[in-house]
Amino acid sequence: MKIETFALERWMTTWELLVTHDITESGISPMSIVDLLQIARLDDPGRVIADAMAAPQLYSEARGTEALRSCIASTYQAVSADDVLVTTGAIEANFLICNTLLEPGDHVVVSTPCYQQLVSVPRAIGCDIAEWRVTPESGFTFDLEALESLVTDRTRMIIINTPHNPTGATLTQAEMERIAAIADRVGAWILSDEAYRWLTHPGGIDLPGPMRDISPRAISVGTMSKFFGLPGLRLGWLAATSELASACWELRDYTSLSPSQLSDRFAQMAIANREGVRDRNHAILARNLEKARAWFSEHEDIVSWVEPRAGLLAMMRVHGLDNTDELSERLASEAGVMLAPGSAFGLPGYLRIGIGQRPEIFDEALDRTSAFIRTYLAGRQSAIAAE
Ligand SMILES: Cc1ncc(COP(=O)(O)O)c(C=O)c1O
Repeated sequence: MKIETFALERWMTTWELLVTHDITESGISPMSIVDLLQIARLDDPGRVIADAMAAPQLYSEARGTEALRSCIASTYQAVSADDVLVTTGAIEANFLICNTLLEPGDHVVVSTPCYQQLVSVPRAIGCDIAEWRVTPESGFTFDLEALESLVTDRTRMIIINTPHNPTGATLTQAEMERIAAIADRVGAWILSDEAYRWLTHPGGIDLPGPMRDISPRAISVGTMSKFFGLPGLRLGWLAATSELASACWELRDYTSLSPSQLSDRFAQMAIANREGVRDRNHAILARNLEKARAWFSEHEDIVSWVEPRAGLLAMMRVHGLDNTDELSERLASEAGVMLAPGSAFGLPGYLRIGIGQRPEIFDEALDRTSAFIRTYLAGRQSAIAAE
């Protein structure tokens, strides 16, 4: 397969070990296993660790253990353990689904901008891509009328992601039902990347349930990386029909074979303790949202955003800049702050901000950012005046 460079992942890999203040990450501030054990309030956490350390590290059950698949299945209305395939992150789930269901020439409607994989993989397969744009002009919301006009009798798959990376746009239950009806009308699959499932904000809106609960034509994708703050487990899943889960499993034999046994074990613990994880997340988000609101208001002459109603990401407009590539490189190299350039998402006048970082780092990062942008913009003004 010939596939285009994953621009954002390359950019992140270049800077993530060099900066001190990363506020572009897409997940909640990662937990340690010790944090997880505390959330789980186990009677004897030492025993759990000792058992995990003593277990021979075999190849684990290839689909994910029955226990983990049942645990995942229980988070849906009518999904059984056989309908679930555990994968190496949501990224592998998306890859397997596209390569199992799509053929060259298939018409695929993809919500863009997006986590680049969601458009690059179908494009590499040779699909005919129609982009369903989430635009600044719409206030970063999903335009269902536009989707209606993009879907045709030829459409084989609609790819969505809600809450949305990178804009924070969030579909309502009614909108998800409408997408299900549109897909049903033409017999298309829906790949619903739900990497940000459960990521509500304290005092904010409730999120609709997963697409798999709404439509039999939908495949829901989940992960330990965002809500759970456990990206290092490299564990995700897909929930589909048992036939499709099996077909994806056949392809998975060629990619990663089976999940790590340790990841499988701790993923079960995290999923079973979702409420504790949500409380941890809300404590982080309450502080970061308060800081962000005050910061955007104080610096409204240079930056603005559409505050996300759920999830962890938003696009920050830098006023007066058509392209933030140089700014984001200099923010990283000179101020130690990581904010991904909007060009990685086709929104070059923006930076992608994540609100899941530890509050003390988030606060300092925003203060450094405003100071740096002011100096940067003033420097540009002087340079233009001198020309
Ligand atoms: C929408 C979306 N899908 C998938 C992924 C990949 O996540 P994972 O770590 O589960 O592979 C990401 C990561 O940023 C994402 O934002």
